[in-house]
Amino acid sequence: MDALELLVNRRSASRLVEPAPQGEQRENIIRAAMRAPDHGTLQPWHFFMIEGEGRERFSQLLEKAARDSGLDEKAIEKARSGPFRAPLIVTVVAKCQEHHKVPQWEQLLSAGCAVMAMQMAALAQGFNGIWRSGPMTDNPQVREAFGCRELDKIVGFLYLGTPQLKASTTISVPDTTPFVSYF
Ligand SMILES: Cc1cc2nc3c(=O)[nH]c(=O)nc-3n(C[C@H](O)[C@H](O)[C@H](O)COP(=O)(O)O)c2cc1C
Repeated sequence: MDALELLVNRRSASRLVEPAPQGEQRENIIRAAMRAPDHGTLQPWHFFMIEGEGRERFSQLLEKAARDSGLDEKAIEKARSGPFRAPLIVTVVAKCQEHHKVPQWEQLLSAGCAVMAMQMAALAQGFNGIWRSGPMTDNPQVREAFGCRELDKIVGFLYLGTPQLKASTTISVPDTTPFVSYF
């Protein structure tokens, strides 16, 4: 797929089914993430692949975290079922450090760029996905499960797979004018 066409017209997809990216396709996705802009070459990220039985473990983790947080039954069920919305989920952790030149916000942005790069690399290979977050990213049990140290931050759960529905081909051209000024 043409890179510009992809960037200008892309949409996220929330209904995702098998197959998920495998083998070289998955490796391309991780390589794209590793090419995110990275001040100081800190590589401030870690990627947890969740699939198969891992989805069961992730579901149990989210269910317990939701229950222990005192959420209502509806929210607990939402947390439990969430991981089954895609065949592959990538938890992206920003691994931040105190650095004399690279503040933490830059490291967080780098990890965020890595999420975007992964989603675009998936799309370029015929897959798609959606970047999700929510309060569980800050939940202590979830943070611990993904090895977060004090400065680390879960910046997203990237749901990936094959889109169940064909993306709409009629994406309206946005009016960019209000968002751009000349300084
Ligand atoms: C940091 C971040 C967190 C997000 N978290 C969620 C989320 O938890 N749930 C959700 O439905 N969309 C979330 N989104 C938005 C979706 O990824 C997506 O961009 C949105 O549904 C709009 O679709 P589009 O990408 O096709 O424009 C998040 C986006 C970002 C950048």
